Amino acid sequence: MIDDETKDGVPAPLQEGSKRRPKRRYDDARRSEEVASVRRAIRYELDPEDDDDAEPVREPVIELDNISLAFDEPILKEVSFVAREGETIVVVGESGTGKSTILKLILRLLVPDQGRVSIDGEDISHLSFEEALKVRQKMGMVFQGAALFDSMTVFENIAYPVREHTNLGEDEVEARVREKLEFVDLEPDKVMQQFPSELSGGMRKRVGVARGMANNPEIMLYDEPTSGLDPLTTGTITRLIMKLQRELGVTSVVVSHDIRSAFRMATKVALLSERHIAFFGTPEEMTGSDNTYIRDFLGGT
Ligand SMILES: Nc1ncnc2c1ncn2[C@@H]1O[C@H](COP(=O)(O)OP(=O)(O)O)[C@@H](O)[C@H]1O
Ligand SMILES: [Mg+2]
Repeated sequence: MIDDETKDGVPAPLQEGSKRRPKRRYDDARRSEEVASVRRAIRYELDPEDDDDAEPVREPVIELDNISLAFDEPILKEVSFVAREGETIVVVGESGTGKSTILKLILRLLVPDQGRVSIDGEDISHLSFEEALKVRQKMGMVFQGAALFDSMTVFENIAYPVREHTNLGEDEVEARVREKLEFVDLEPDKVMQQFPSELSGGMRKRVGVARGMANNPEIMLYDEPTSGLDPLTTGTITRLIMKLQRELGVTSVVVSHDIRSAFRMATKVALLSERHIAFFGTPEEMTGSDNTYIRDFLGGT
């Protein structure tokens, strides 16, 4: 017997209020794909030579728009940059210039005195506490020094945010923890029951990354992920951050003073100096710059 709603296997048009209406997320995804393809067509109309079809239009995911912030004294002044979908922005600059502060603004742990922070096009500056929590759900954070809970096992550390923000059953929580440990190249059966103090510095960082990505965030924020690591382990963590970008398409902001690893993973480098962005561009543009401050900064590391 033929289903009422189909004819020759073609679904009937959706009725207003129909339960079979596709999920909103899917609608949005398709709409943004349509918008992107129209934009590509328009760009081609305007300049047929500029036919970079291979490179899709990327939507802004994180936008800092003219941010100013002061504590006792001004820290950031008219700071703006955009991280588009799948990009890795590495924020470099001397100690105390406000790099960690930028991450706190993106997480909305701080609110700017002036300017706007937007996530997926939504201004987060004026959200209620609950709304801010919801936006924060889109983000995974890897804190400076990994900052694991020392009294909890590796398993408990990674399970913690999963239990906090989902209703997954115990089996699913364990499956999630195993999946994330495997992603960061740690053997679940070896490390799950260990405590952070039993791990090497590099392994602790990897657990920190596994915990940061536990709820499948679209955005990852890292504060000095390679500080205090030897060159070999620095390379491992740098590659891991690149793997999240490549395989999962996450948008990332990485705070680092390690310019070598910054250059390897950055789509764009933001150089913070004297309360503002002194440079924003690709690693190639940065090394090619003849600006004295940039040359000194690069030469001095
Ligand atoms: N909550 C705060 N209250 C007062 N001053 C702060 C606070 N957080 C950071 N600062 C100051 O802001 C400046 C930038 O800090 P931070 O963003 O941690 O720098 P960075 O990460 O680049 O080393 C520093 O001078 C720091 O002392
Ligand atoms: Mg810092």
